[in-house]
Amino acid sequence: MTSKPLWETLLQPFFQTFLIDQEEIGILKAEIDWPGGLADFGAGENQYPDYYSGSNFHGIEGGYLTQSAALTYDPITRYVLPPNEDWVRQGLIDRIGGAPRRILDLGCGTGTQTRMLKRAFPQAEVTGLDLSPYMLTFARHQARRQGLSLQWRQGRAEKTPFGAESFDLITAALLFHETPPPITEAILKEAFRLLKPGGQILILDGNQQTLRRSAWLTRIFEEPYIQDYAQGDLLCWLRNARFEAAATHNHWQIHQVTEARKPSPIVSTLEFSPDVSWAGSSLGA
Ligand SMILES: C[S@@+](CC[C@H](N)C(=O)[O-])C[C@H]1O[C@@H](n2cnc3c(N)ncnc32)[C@H](O)[C@@H]1O
Repeated sequence: MTSKPLWETLLQPFFQTFLIDQEEIGILKAEIDWPGGLADFGAGENQYPDYYSGSNFHGIEGGYLTQSAALTYDPITRYVLPPNEDWVRQGLIDRIGGAPRRILDLGCGTGTQTRMLKRAFPQAEVTGLDLSPYMLTFARHQARRQGLSLQWRQGRAEKTPFGAESFDLITAALLFHETPPPITEAILKEAFRLLKPGGQILILDGNQQTLRRSAWLTRIFEEPYIQDYAQGDLLCWLRNARFEAAATHNHWQIHQVTEARKPSPIVSTLEFSPDVSWAGSSLGA
C-alpha cells in the first residue's frame, strides 16, 4: 500500500487553516478577471500533455488547471522556499551576466520570478510563458496591479511559438522538478533554439544532490516527477542540449542555481590577424 504524502495528510490542512490568509484569497479571487484571462489564454481549447493534465501537483485535484492552484500557489510557496523566498529567487537574478534585452521565463506560474526579472532589468522585454491559463490570469493581474509591463503567453515550454535566436536570457524557476526528464530535455533543446548565440540559460530549482541524499524531502509534497528529477543531472541534460560552460551553484543546500550558455560562433583571430605569420612555423614543411 502506498502511503499518502505528508503534505496531503498533515501539512496542507495545517497551511489551509493557519498559514493561508483565506480572506486575502477571497478578495483576490473576486477582483481577478477570470473570464477575460481564460478567454485570452485559451482555457479549454488546449491539448495539455498527459503528464500535466493527469497529475495532482501539490495535492490539488486538477493540478495547475484550476483557480484554486493559482490562488494558493503564492501563499504556500512563501513557506516552502527557506530561508526566505525573495532571497532564494534573488540567487537566480544574481547570476545574470550582462544586461539582457529580451528575457523569457519558462513555466512562469504566478509570475513572481518574472516580475523580479523585470524589476532587475526595467528596459528589457520580459515574457512569461506557462501552460496554465489560470496561473497566467493570476500572473497578469498581479503584474498590472504592481504597474509592471510584461508579456504573457500560454503554451508548452518544449514547443514555443517564438522564433529561433530571439532571446538573450531564458530562465526556469521551480519548473524541472515537476516535469518528467524527457520533457525537461525537450524544454532545454527548445531553449537552445530560442537563445541568441552567447545567450544564457538560468535554472533555479531543488538541489539534486541533496534530494538524492534525503529521499524524505521528495516525499513531503505530491510531486509526481521529483524523484526522477533528483536522480537526474541538469548539467548532463544541458550538455545533451549542446549548451556549454554549464555549472551548478549550491544555494543554501536545498536549492541550486544552474547556468549555461549557447556557444557563440568561433571567429578565428588567426585567420584575420595581420600580425600572425605562418612562415617559419614549426608545423611548416
Ligand atoms: C512549480 S510552478 C513554478 C512557477 C514559477 N516559475 C515560480 O518560480 O514560482 C511550475 C509551473 O510550470 C508550469 N508548467 C509545467 N509544465 C510546463 C510546460 N511543459 N510548459 C509550460 N509550463 C509548464 C506549471 O503550469 C506551473 O505554473
